[in-house]
Amino acid sequence: MHSDLSEILLNKQEIECRVQELGNLIAQDYLGKQLHMVSVLKGSMVFMADLMRTIDLPLTIDCMAVSSYGSGAVSAGVVQVVKDLSTPAEGKDVLVVEDVMDTGLSLASIIGLLGGRGARSVRVCTLLNKPGRRHPTVALQPDYVGFEIPDVFVVGYGLDYNELYRNLPYIGVLDRRIYSV
Ligand code: IMP
Ligand code: MG
Repeated sequence: MHSDLSEILLNKQEIECRVQELGNLIAQDYLGKQLHMVSVLKGSMVFMADLMRTIDLPLTIDCMAVSSYGSGAVSAGVVQVVKDLSTPAEGKDVLVVEDVMDTGLSLASIIGLLGGRGARSVRVCTLLNKPGRRHPTVALQPDYVGFEIPDVFVVGYGLDYNELYRNLPYIGVLDRRIYSV
């Protein structure tokens, strides 16, 4: 385990197994549809890369980036589109792929944005869900959830703190001493 972590929450095998299960569910649900997977950068890129390879259907991908957090561990509450889609979402069955749903502010604004662009359907797949952290204005429920986790700050498997730790093959709890200085 990396020395900046206090514990490993999800190991490589647990993640791999759950990603396969999610892929199976998605493949069943999207049979005959025009699946268009949208990765929310940068946190979901590792999850997206693994997830799409478990789905045995014709599909297309795109990515977008929003910022709500700046570089730290505390939400700024302001969501900005930093990188927009490069292909139209119109007529497609969009599946937004996110690393973690925390306050839900980013996903709620992404869903609002894509809904207004003529997508045939818009659903959400998040690897991690922190239901206890939801902002009171957010009613959105994710359609696919990898794991429900408590209110802890996690890194690895794409998730970062100050852009670090994304390359860890597991998900762990960042030790408080790292961000409480
Ligand atoms: P939300 O808008 O508050 O739901 O924020 C979601 C975004 O915040 C995610 O896409 C992550 O980039 C970031 N985030 C929230 N919780 C964590 C965490 O525990 N570790 C790393 N990033 C997090
Ligand atoms: Mg993110």
